[in-house]
Amino acid sequence: MKEKIKSVSVVGLGKLGLPLSAALASRGCHVVGIDSDSAKVQEFNQGKFCFEPQLEDCLTLGKERLSFTTDLNQLLQTDITFVIVPTPSMADGSFSIEYVEQALERIGNVLRQKNSFHVVSVVSTVLPGSMEVLKAVLEKKSGKRCGQSLGLCYNPAFIALGNVIHNFLNPDFILIGESDQESGETLEKLFIDFCTNAPAIHRMNFINAEITKISLNTYVTMKISFGNTLARICEQLPGADAEVVAKALGSDSRVGPKYLRGALGYGGPCFPRDNRAFSCMGRKVGIPAFSAEATDRVNEFQVTWLLSLVKSYAKKEDVIGLWGLSYKPDTDVIEESQGMKLAEALINDSHPVVVYDPVAMSNSQKILGNRVSYADSALDCLRQASVLVIMTPWKEFSRFEKNQADFYDGKQRLIIDCWQILKGDFSSSEMKHVVLGKTL
Ligand SMILES: NC(=O)c1ccc[n+]([C@@H]2O[C@H](COP(=O)([O-])OP(=O)(O)OC[C@H]3O[C@@H](n4cnc5c(N)ncnc54)[C@H](O)[C@@H]3O)[C@@H](O)[C@H]2O)c1
Repeated sequence: MKEKIKSVSVVGLGKLGLPLSAALASRGCHVVGIDSDSAKVQEFNQGKFCFEPQLEDCLTLGKERLSFTTDLNQLLQTDITFVIVPTPSMADGSFSIEYVEQALERIGNVLRQKNSFHVVSVVSTVLPGSMEVLKAVLEKKSGKRCGQSLGLCYNPAFIALGNVIHNFLNPDFILIGESDQESGETLEKLFIDFCTNAPAIHRMNFINAEITKISLNTYVTMKISFGNTLARICEQLPGADAEVVAKALGSDSRVGPKYLRGALGYGGPCFPRDNRAFSCMGRKVGIPAFSAEATDRVNEFQVTWLLSLVKSYAKKEDVIGLWGLSYKPDTDVIEESQGMKLAEALINDSHPVVVYDPVAMSNSQKILGNRVSYADSALDCLRQASVLVIMTPWKEFSRFEKNQADFYDGKQRLIIDCWQILKGDFSSSEMKHVVLGKTL
């Protein structure tokens, strides 16, 4: 095995690349963060960063070892370059590798000047077959062959926004697709030093790593959609409670408890598109991915169903309040979020809507504009609404107490708690409290 890796570069400082750079620096690596967006690099150099739990702590811990630049030549000072640039979804569900190709062309050109071994590791999500294309690009531009003074790996991250740093430092497993043994060993060594736990490390060829990456999220979303279907059925049966059922089901070791909780659909920048990409992968090889397609349909149904539930209680003029617009707690990302989807559906149905989210207000304002009103606080949102729907299980919402005096103002009101996060039954003469997953 090689010496301890001391120096790493990260190309693409987005939602993933910045936290990875900071986490690596906090663990003792010298890190050069490189992004083609000069305005972003300037902001980072001025100390302005996006919201992600633990990011600030890592930036502080790693301050002396972390720099940001637009200059790709700086990667020559490092041993490994992680590439984390976007791979946007195409109309057929596949991912474009255009930006990764561009990045590898430029990296290849720079690596022409380097004599010692350098590993390029693609973290961006790609579809099976892409890494062979990328290998040809890198070899052509660098004038080197993988396995000689150059190596290429596929090392996708299994992280959730809001937990990126924790997930980087404590992964269940590390996935490494490798062009050659030395590259895989180099990455393995880095992760052994970097991770605070002792994750399983799976090293394999490119195609198996590409299939593993895309399959994992597809399996998890299948479980979420199953849990949601179960919840919708429980809501229709007297005495049923999906949480009780899921707890028992999850204790079977073949099933496991995670992600089985029936609540709302999944969203965010990965789950929906990875699931569709899996279907696309199946179509490309002539095998229909029925389960992935059904997962997607179940997910699409959740907001349609929730809209009909709200409408069954609310009059047209009733103000509908939404608590939570981010696709999950601890992030300001609203991409494909259930809260944003319900807001759009309610607006299309001509309902007045008031929204509140602890951190995603400014992102949602860019999309919803003046079509909704924005509450100053969760309580303000509740007070303005006749029907309140809890869309994201932020901790802040779970702190409301039934006996809190300011919660009740005499107005008749309905709360739909999609995540069973309110403690106890809030029902009273002026409040109807509906909990998803339980008999409606
Ligand atoms: N965000 C997630 O939760 C998540 C999770 C797992 C995997 N991924 C994958 O990681 C990849 C990146 O995702 P993200 O959310 O961090 O993207 P992002 O859009 O937040 O950030 C991408 C960054 O790359 C930069 N960039 C683009 N081309 C570049 C180039 N040629 N050179 C240098 N910088 C360049 C952009 O300026 C931007 O700062 C995608 O493939 C995504 O599927 C994301």
